[in-house]
Amino acid sequence: MKKEITIIGTGYVGLTTGVCLASLGHSIICVDSNREKIKKLRKGEVPIFEPGLAELLESHQANIVFTDDLAEAVKRSQTIFLAVGTPQQNDGSVDLTFFQQAVRQVAQSMHGYKIIVDKSTVPVGTADWVKNEIAKYFKGDFSVVSNPEFLKEGTAVDDFLRPDRVVIGVDKDKKAGEILLDIYSAIDAPKLLTDIKSAELIKYASNAFLATKISFVNEIANICEKTGADILEVAKGIGSDSRIGPKFLKAGIGFGGSCLPKDTAGLIHTALSNNYQPKILQAAQAVNEGQWQIFAEKIRGVLKTNGGDTVGVWGLAFKPDTDDVRYSPAIAIIKELRKDGYKIRVYDPVAQENARAELGEGIIFCASALEAARGTDVLVLATEWPEFLQVDWQELKKTMRSASIADGRNFLPKAELTTDGFNYLGIGRI
Ligand code: UDX
Repeated sequence: MKKEITIIGTGYVGLTTGVCLASLGHSIICVDSNREKIKKLRKGEVPIFEPGLAELLESHQANIVFTDDLAEAVKRSQTIFLAVGTPQQNDGSVDLTFFQQAVRQVAQSMHGYKIIVDKSTVPVGTADWVKNEIAKYFKGDFSVVSNPEFLKEGTAVDDFLRPDRVVIGVDKDKKAGEILLDIYSAIDAPKLLTDIKSAELIKYASNAFLATKISFVNEIANICEKTGADILEVAKGIGSDSRIGPKFLKAGIGFGGSCLPKDTAGLIHTALSNNYQPKILQAAQAVNEGQWQIFAEKIRGVLKTNGGDTVGVWGLAFKPDTDDVRYSPAIAIIKELRKDGYKIRVYDPVAQENARAELGEGIIFCASALEAARGTDVLVLATEWPEFLQVDWQELKKTMRSASIADGRNFLPKAELTTDGFNYLGIGRI
């Protein structure tokens, strides 16, 4: 049944949730305090790079409005999704400033029964805080639900509309659970009704598991290098075991982005503050931090051997199909090599502007992949954008000063490049 829903926050999660729920026929109000963003969204302009999102918004514009008037939006909706950012603090803990602000604003605007849905990734126990905080401002009946989101950047729309599962955490609150099930009724996926704390933890545990899986395969890749095995063969072999599965077994320069590093750190912090030392999570984090450093060392090795001083970098985003450079291993490697004094030429199809803001001065931003390779002594592939496979290898070789490639994602055709005379270095491959 069609529902009136408010979504607070128009970042990756909030905007995707709003647009996708609108596409399912619900009536959506998206709220954001950033007026510039609201102005753009009203014109149909999507402020993030997310394939398919702008098109879906255009097709379902009739079901969605954008506003900065939170109080009015709360008045008009029974269900309020909180989807504001919960960034990482220096000590690894989660910064709940925006989230808590949003909860207070919602509480102060409530006049009748509302369901407050935590979609932001918040530490286990946060829903209890939300309940207590709302009760300070609003004396009537209300429900708090935890409904974590598992979408990935680059495939957010598909992940939202065709998820592996929908998790709904409710505490002895049948009414709220039923309304949430109704909101998601058009989505064909298992709906897991859990208690609130378990739902909150499922989100962290899922991301921490994925992070651990990547660090595991990266560790095996490092062992491959020491022993002469090939990680592509090994990953295929272990991934063929249905208990392990082939996904998230791509070795490389490590995981980045706004979620895996932050949520692993957040869960470590939660464990430590509850007097438990999460050894596996700490190891997953340490392997990830070491992974791009091992790769940077390889690049230094190539430059030492060929006497070069210029590095080309293909890809700046933390993965393809996004312009997001948060915790991108590409950025970490570039910063490290810049400290060494190397000249660095870079190219990314969509993340250049975000990377420029992150990197500042001293980097040469180029208009194409070939341009970034011009006169370089080693070419680093940091993000596996498909367009890099379209490059003419002979032309690339002529463009570079020394034909060395360090492929941080095992993405380029090693055999072909080697035949063409390139010195090719991958991750976990001989
Ligand atoms: C992740 C989770 O997948 C998603 O469920 C959650 O809601 C948000 O966090 P996202 O950050 O968009 O999604 O990216 P993801 O596709 O998970 O990739 C994260 C990082 O891991 C990237 O840097 C990627 O390059 C790296 N990665 C992924 C690997 O190094 N190897 C792999 O096999 C898979």
